Amino acid sequence: MKTTIPLPRPSPSRLMKRLDELGAVSSAEDGLTRLYLSEAHRRAAALVRGWMEQAGLETRIDDAGTVCGVLAGAPGNARRLLLGSHIDSVPRAGKFDGCLGVVAAIEAIDILASRGVRLPYAVEVLAFGDEEGVRFPVTLTGARAVAGTFSPASLAAVDADGITLERALRAFGCDPAGVALIGRQREDVFGYLELHIEQGPVLESEGLAVGVVTAISAAQRSMLEFAGKAGHAGTVPMRLRQDVFAALAELAVAIRAIALRQEGVVATIGMVDLPRGAVNVIPSQLRCSLDLRAASDALLAEASRAVAEAIAAASQAHGVGISQRVTYESPATTCAPGLQQAFAEAVARTGLAPRFLPSGAGHDGVALAARWPIGMLFVRCKGGVSHHPDEYVAAEDAQLATDILADTLTRLTG
Ligand code: GLV
Ligand code: MN
Ligand code: MN
Repeated sequence: MKTTIPLPRPSPSRLMKRLDELGAVSSAEDGLTRLYLSEAHRRAAALVRGWMEQAGLETRIDDAGTVCGVLAGAPGNARRLLLGSHIDSVPRAGKFDGCLGVVAAIEAIDILASRGVRLPYAVEVLAFGDEEGVRFPVTLTGARAVAGTFSPASLAAVDADGITLERALRAFGCDPAGVALIGRQREDVFGYLELHIEQGPVLESEGLAVGVVTAISAAQRSMLEFAGKAGHAGTVPMRLRQDVFAALAELAVAIRAIALRQEGVVATIGMVDLPRGAVNVIPSQLRCSLDLRAASDALLAEASRAVAEAIAAASQAHGVGISQRVTYESPATTCAPGLQQAFAEAVARTGLAPRFLPSGAGHDGVALAARWPIGMLFVRCKGGVSHHPDEYVAAEDAQLATDILADTLTRLTG
């Protein structure tokens, strides 16, 4: 008779255990969904705050719902380095996007403490709550607040249930009027570092565990509203219809062609709302989102112009009104050469060749780069899969990246 001897398994590291624990904090039962200022966000923030306290950080939750943990520097040096990422998620998310950067930042502080390393400068770990921007038509609220670029007009933004950002902040225990007052003084901070899952296939395809980010793509998000005319599906001849869905279908094909013809441009219609639809009624009202990104500001501007022309053409062809409201715009963001170099040197000290690569995804650093130099380190992900429950980072890669982050901290002088 054949017996199976179980293979010895290493116990998962604390880093991975924490990612599992955080990944289980969800408002849905069938996977991870953690929207900004939701009950799940509140529980995640409390969990992260507890880990920060265990690491010896002085913690608070600010008026934008960001968990902040400060480690004092050497006496007389008040300058601080910001570290972190986000703990909100897209619907049906993976557990690494954002959370990896937060958990790794806390772990890096712990690694240095366990080695008796005292940094000359202060460190502030930030767990932002609105990087994805999927609940409200605003995004990067926490990071913009820290950078001092939050616009109070955003407080009027409403979610799908008609709840304003202002009301949601209040329900979370924040003071909405305080969000515009969170900004750190420019001279008190000397940079921001973030470790993040790559969310793409480049590192894996080259057999590399980590990569140094050079820049983050330019992005524009907008909502399109279509107004046509309802009618009988059996009686109105095709050429007399003002069918909003037909207009969107043609527009979606045109937008896809715009992105396909220019390398470095991507376009996504990720949300479509066709209210009061019925099988035998020509649809007359529709709303959809459009997410447009490009490797440079010039490319984004060109794609955006082409989209506007495609909207006008679809509107005319279908006799349908189409309005576009831009809800978010961010320019291409360069990671500071000095911080790219600091990460690259730390990567090289592990014996790996530094690989530099751009990010197609947006990050909290985009908002912080308005004030300070930013640096990002990417960690290989399996199959390039992200914004999906199958998102996966190997424990060894996560640990290596955290060690590189800790090493980088020891080389900065503040
Ligand atoms: C966030 O993940 C974004 O790039 O939209
Ligand atoms: Mn992210
Ligand atoms: Mn994301």
